[in-house]
Amino acid sequence: MRSVPVENINNIVILTGAGISAESGVATFRGPDGLWEGHRVEDVATPEAFARDPDMVQKFYDERRAKLDAVQPNPAHQALAELDQKWPGDLLLVTQNVDDLHDRAGSQRLLHMHGELRSAWCLACGERSPFAGKMALDPACPKCDQFGHLRPDIVWFGEMPYQMERIELALAQCDLFVSIGTSGAVYPAAGFVQSARHYGARTLEMNLDPSEGSLYFHESRMGKAGDLVPVWVEDLLTNV
Ligand code: APR
Repeated sequence: MRSVPVENINNIVILTGAGISAESGVATFRGPDGLWEGHRVEDVATPEAFARDPDMVQKFYDERRAKLDAVQPNPAHQALAELDQKWPGDLLLVTQNVDDLHDRAGSQRLLHMHGELRSAWCLACGERSPFAGKMALDPACPKCDQFGHLRPDIVWFGEMPYQMERIELALAQCDLFVSIGTSGAVYPAAGFVQSARHYGARTLEMNLDPSEGSLYFHESRMGKAGDLVPVWVEDLLTNV
């Protein structure tokens, strides 16, 4: 596939998925066993599941939140954080991931479109707050002090991802769209490459396996994010 030319690139949009965190030890969603840490995603990541069995859903997310303490950003997260710090043009890192590895690596121009494990959403006051504990223990809302109204600040199936207008504007203005570690199985993120191409952007995919959207990319690089992303960032910064 043709290599993406580096000159004339000013505005970059990067989309990441679970694959960028895989080398940090965070489970992907559509791995070989097809389960998400032993659960069918439909059983835990929907408003219906939360209404049906809030305790089970809270415990599932409490377990994933607690695991974050044991994982670290990998070279792919670190390379993107370096790009964030050194890239002179516009750059937006849109992650589908709810882990905090991009944040801990130091990325600033970052947007969690599916929410974050380390955030709580209070359905009484509507406020979101940083959260690190166990929601199944029914803590009070850090903002309004009411009990019994916290839910994981995670975008579930059937709910609208966060900041879609900001993302769509960035896609319309970018010169380069890069997708890293996502299967391209879930919309609207899976459609971002087509939007970017529609507006004339160059498109690059870096993934362990071909994704469902591979045919829409000008260039696809197959391999581990921890290997591919630092090389790509170094090349980009060498020519900036
Ligand atoms: N390096 C690069 N890519 C990898 C690596 C790696 N080390 N390991 C796995 N991958 C790739 C896989 O080949 C796969 O294409 O990462 C992708 C992970 O795909 P999914 O498990 O489907 O995760 P993701 O694309 O992020 O899922 C999107 O679905 O369940 C919802 O909301 C959830 O945000 C999630 C969304």
